[in-house]
This record gives sequence, structure tokens and C-alpha cells, in this order.
Amino acid sequence: MKIAVSGKGGVGKTLIAGGIAYSFAEKGLKTIAIDADSSPNLALTLGLTPQEARKIVPISENKELIEAKTSTGYGGVYRLSFSVDDIVREYSVETPLGIHLIVMGTVKSAGAGCACPANAVVRALLRHLVVERNEAVILDMEAGVEHLGRGTAKNVDTMLVVADANMKALETAKHIHELASNAGVKQILLVGNKIGNATQRRTVEDFSEKHDIKTLDFVPFDAEVVEAEMRGETPLKHSEFEAMQAIKRLSDRLLATKNG
Ligand SMILES: Nc1ncnc2c1ncn2[C@@H]1O[C@H](COP(=O)(O)OP(=O)(O)O)[C@@H](O)[C@H]1O
Ligand SMILES: [Mg+2]
Repeated sequence: MKIAVSGKGGVGKTLIAGGIAYSFAEKGLKTIAIDADSSPNLALTLGLTPQEARKIVPISENKELIEAKTSTGYGGVYRLSFSVDDIVREYSVETPLGIHLIVMGTVKSAGAGCACPANAVVRALLRHLVVERNEAVILDMEAGVEHLGRGTAKNVDTMLVVADANMKALETAKHIHELASNAGVKQILLVGNKIGNATQRRTVEDFSEKHDIKTLDFVPFDAEVVEAEMRGETPLKHSEFEAMQAIKRLSDRLLATKNG
């Protein structure tokens, strides 16, 4: 099961990606969560302390690793083919919830100051995780598909695009839907998050109907999630929270679509 989660900043990607990973791990699936956001914070949601989270060096910022993988010894010329399975072994962090975490770091688009060797490593690693491995993989992304080469995108089972009822979040979702569909992602489903009332739900439903975007599910706005985050706790273990129940249900539906 390979799931990517995308959407505008602040809509709840990390909560939902973390919640799905937790739900898969609880079912006994070996699960790898990948933080591919440029301001990564999945580590905290997966239950690491701020101190532990700070110690993690994102793959794309690990100069020694990038150099070891890609250097040919000639300036400006880098190797295109290298092993990455060892990176999963050595750089994934085991979290208290039993999920393995890999923090990828940013992929800059070509032209924006050449981070090519780092991009090559990140893309090869993502390809390996999505295409070649048997574990369940959950990708917490940002509002785009820069991380995914075509081969990788085609092997993602489902991309979830998260949006709340805010028109900006919905417009971003529509844009991501287009990008993901052009990149070859087979199934793209909207998740309406932070839904506080019937009008908000209707707004998301109307938008998705109008633009022919399928919706997987809705997650309610849950003040208990906000309060847990205020205390610096991860909401994931609180299976009594309404939002966590909705995310668990959504995860079950994802597994059912994959198996069905
Ligand atoms: N359903 C929800 N109810 C209440 N708060 C939520 C909900 N989903 C997310 N949040 C809160 O909104 C904030 C942003 O969520 P986050 O998952 O970090 O978004 P993103 O990863 O898309 O930037 C967090 O503080 C999170 O706890
Ligand atoms: Mg996030």
C-alpha cells in the first residue's frame, strides 16, 4: 500500500498521514512514513520528542551521504546509479508508535540553484520505497508532486489531497489534482478535513462535484486535537478523538479499495 498525502499548508496533511500510518501499523503492517515537506514535522506527530526530532538530518541535507552516493570525483559530474536500500536501513528512525520515519527534505525544482545530486538521491530513494518495497509507505508531501518522477507516481496506489472548506485550500487541491493526474497517479481522492458544520461539508462536496474530483471521506474539526497539540502531545494515540476515529475509518476504506 503506497499512499501520498498532499494539500495546501495547514490543512492537516501531517495529522492525516500520521493517522493513516498509525492505523496501518496497528493492523500489523510494516509501515514507513516519509516526511517530504520542506518544513518537516511528522516526527512529532509520530511521537518523537522535539529533541529527538531536531537530531534527524533530512536526507537531502545530509552532505556526506549525498556525496558518498553521487560523487564521481569529477566536479559537476555525478553518478546516476547507486544503491538506496542501505539508506532505508541506516537513516530510518523508529518512532514510539512502531512506525519507521524517513525525513527527506526539500527537492528544489531544476534551475532553483542546483541541488541536483541531492534531488537524484531523494528521487531514487522515493522510487525505491514506492516501487520496490513491500512495506506500507505513507508520504507526507507538500502542495505538489515535485518529489515524484513518473515511474514513482504511477506506482502510488492513492494520492489523498487534503483540503478544508476554505476556497484557497480547495483551489490548491484542484491544482494538485491536475498535477498528480498528469504525473500518472492512478487514483486521486479528496479528503475534507476540519469540517465544523454542514455548510462546510456542503462547500467541499459542491466543489468536488463541480470539478469532478472524487471524495474519499470527511474528517471533523476536533478541538481535542488542537488541545493535544497545545500540550505538545501527539493526537494519534487518542482513539477516542472524533478526528482520529474518522482517520481510522478512512484508512480502513483505503485498505478496502486496495484489496477490493
Ligand atoms: N481535524 C482537525 N481538527 C482540528 N485540528 C486539526 C485537524 N486537522 C489538523 N488540525 C490541526 O491543524 C494544524 C495543521 O495541521 P497539519 O497536519 O500540521 O497540517 P499540514 O501538514 O497540512 O500543514 C495542526 O495544529 C493540527 O493539529
Ligand atoms: Mg505538515
